[in-house]
Amino acid sequence: MREFMTTVNSTTYEVREATPADAPAVLGLYRALSDSSVNLRFSTHLSENDLARAADLPAEHGRAVVACVGNRVVGEARYVLWEGEHELALTVADDHQGQGVGTALLARLRRTAAANGVSSLRAVVRTENAPMLGLLERIGVSIVRPPEGGDITVDIACDDYMPGWGPDTGRTRVLVEARGRAEHPSTTALRKAGFDVRQCTGPGRRGRVCPVLALGRCRLFEEADLVACLLPDDEDCAGIEDLHVKTHPARLVARSLEEWRDASASLASSPTATLRHERAEVSSATGTTGDVEHLA
Ligand SMILES: CC(C)(COP(=O)(O)OP(=O)(O)OC[C@H]1O[C@@H](n2cnc3c(N)ncnc32)[C@H](O)[C@@H]1OP(=O)(O)O)[C@@H](O)C(=O)NCCC(=O)NCCS
Repeated sequence: MREFMTTVNSTTYEVREATPADAPAVLGLYRALSDSSVNLRFSTHLSENDLARAADLPAEHGRAVVACVGNRVVGEARYVLWEGEHELALTVADDHQGQGVGTALLARLRRTAAANGVSSLRAVVRTENAPMLGLLERIGVSIVRPPEGGDITVDIACDDYMPGWGPDTGRTRVLVEARGRAEHPSTTALRKAGFDVRQCTGPGRRGRVCPVLALGRCRLFEEADLVACLLPDDEDCAGIEDLHVKTHPARLVARSLEEWRDASASLASSPTATLRHERAEVSSATGTTGDVEHLA
């Protein structure tokens, strides 16, 4: 399906699914990128051969969408299956950045992914990449790996909710709700002790609302074994802590940094004795789990 978008400067972009025939035009887009965009997109300078390989469109294990002005491809978004995750990458020509093209491409890519049974996309982003992080945070990110070596790894959902936790690894899932992308040392300690840790920056950031408050569900929250609610006591976050208390009080292990320090230390010292609640089978229709509170 073809879609058109006209920006305030009256440029009309066609946003559509890519076909293998678009590869040369995508290569043209990559070749014309500034050094800074190349760094943000590929983390390194690529040889001509590597660029050509990168421009090839994913055949079986991914999908791509493009934004065109006339015959020129000025933006491209793709996801590719990589180590069990659908990893996304986005590229907009330097002279078309900041016009909403990236936002439109990502919206289209998420719809394409959802239509192909993919419920979440993973992004590894340079921490200095404000436009990309802005774009992702407006959708709602689950931080999978905190800023490390200049990269941050996040998941986004392909629908209006938060992404889930992916396949059950058997490790205890700890959801930390805390403002900001940085990780508290107590959270890092649990990650290092082998817990499956995700951080949600909560509502309010980039105008995001909380899906559990606005839409009544959040996979991160529903599928967690333990929750630390460290969000500020402000208007945006009002109601979240109460919801935890009302629905799953036994999972809520900390409501302040002080409590979190203690809880994390005690969990990290005996990870094998940690609580897990029984999760019902993953529903293939929604990609979410049913939720049975039963603490062992
Ligand atoms: C990242 C990128 C894809 C974003 O595409 P875009 O078309 O410029 O993005 P949009 O115009 O849709 O804007 C996205 C957000 O970034 C903000 N933004 C745009 N340009 C910005 C800039 N120069 N500095 C800070 N923020 C900026 C927008 O205001 C918007 O924020 P909002 O959601 O809070 O309103 C594009 O800049 C790009 O191709 N960069 C180089 C390659 C790259 O970094 N790829 C991502 C690798 S994972």
